[in-house]
Amino acid sequence: MNVPFFNYSARFAPDKDLIKELVYRSGTTDQFILKEDVRRLEEAICAYTGAAHAVAAANGTSALVLLLRTMGAGPGVDVLTPAFSFISTASAIRLLGANPVFVDADPRTGMMDPADLERRVTPQSRIVIPTHLFSVMADMEAIRAVARERGLLVLEDSAVALGASQRGIPAGRHGDAGLYSFFPAKPLGGIGDGAVIVTDDEELARGCRMLRNHGQDGVTRFLHHRLGYNSRMDEVLAGYLLHKLGRIGQLLERRRELAARYHEAFAGLDPRLLVTVDDHESRMYYTYVVQAERRDELRAELEQAGVETQVYYPAALPLQPAFADLGARPGDYPGAERFASRSLALPLYPEMPDGDVDAVIRSVVSFLAQEPQHA
Ligand SMILES: Cc1ncc(COP(=O)(O)O)c(C=O)c1O
Repeated sequence: MNVPFFNYSARFAPDKDLIKELVYRSGTTDQFILKEDVRRLEEAICAYTGAAHAVAAANGTSALVLLLRTMGAGPGVDVLTPAFSFISTASAIRLLGANPVFVDADPRTGMMDPADLERRVTPQSRIVIPTHLFSVMADMEAIRAVARERGLLVLEDSAVALGASQRGIPAGRHGDAGLYSFFPAKPLGGIGDGAVIVTDDEELARGCRMLRNHGQDGVTRFLHHRLGYNSRMDEVLAGYLLHKLGRIGQLLERRRELAARYHEAFAGLDPRLLVTVDDHESRMYYTYVVQAERRDELRAELEQAGVETQVYYPAALPLQPAFADLGARPGDYPGAERFASRSLALPLYPEMPDGDVDAVIRSVVSFLAQEPQHA
């Protein structure tokens, strides 16, 4: 048996002719970067999410940098960020010279805990970055309430959550700005790196637009108002994403269908295996994450059975060597540390055959059945 975690050739092979055509068109019409298809993609993302402005960028990490800088992150500024997440959020803060203030995870969902957020706000705090992971959204209403009370801007890291919504509001649209990554594995996976920022704030959009292209205003070439970056999107990617956005509903539906099968098999099955819960009405399943008491043994057993899994993420961020100088110690972020030691992502992607889901379920159930023998 071989059940891969992702299957990129299954994802992109059906688009072979389109991809060839897009590359050929870009190369033969001098339309390489930040041209018509990028503009059309920005418009299409506005239409899909209801945002007033969309700004394409080179990747999600860079989109975070553009937003953070435009929001005023820099030396002397504290930015509240999840202790359990992918590193790009916290590293963007640090690389701008601002100070990441880690907020613990809600042990039930793994997302930013609003009560801990409230405790950790400092007088220097200007921005909070709630992040949505796997298929779970942070509790945006509670986080926004803290942000309002403490005068914080909300940058929603919705890099992996395009298509999810909470209380009728799309992921990415709950705060002052959001972003979506188009890394190939993402819900709207492109053929390379890319991202789009969304916001209703015209000034924020203008600032990001300028920073993404070396501080130019898009009118006068080589007039640099600010020091910026090269964070531009190319036309081939934008053309591909425009096409794929047209079938995002179908792709998300298939993800939900597969997740429902896992859910049916695992919810309430065994207290040693918990499905990650979320109360919001419209989940977007980027991956299907379970929490397992003996995660590493389960992972090894699945691997033996030919099922590839992932650990998102093996350590709480403040305990990563890259943040060692901030002085966190084991036990400082119990929610994040618990999640990091127990979470296991099972394969889930729209192109996944039904039979592969059945095989994963069988392997997990068989592990749980024999587990007492390992004790
Ligand atoms: C939550 C989160 N934020 C940001 C990013 C960064 O996106 P990119 O890979 O496009 O830089 C990722 C990437 O996986 C992510 O998971």
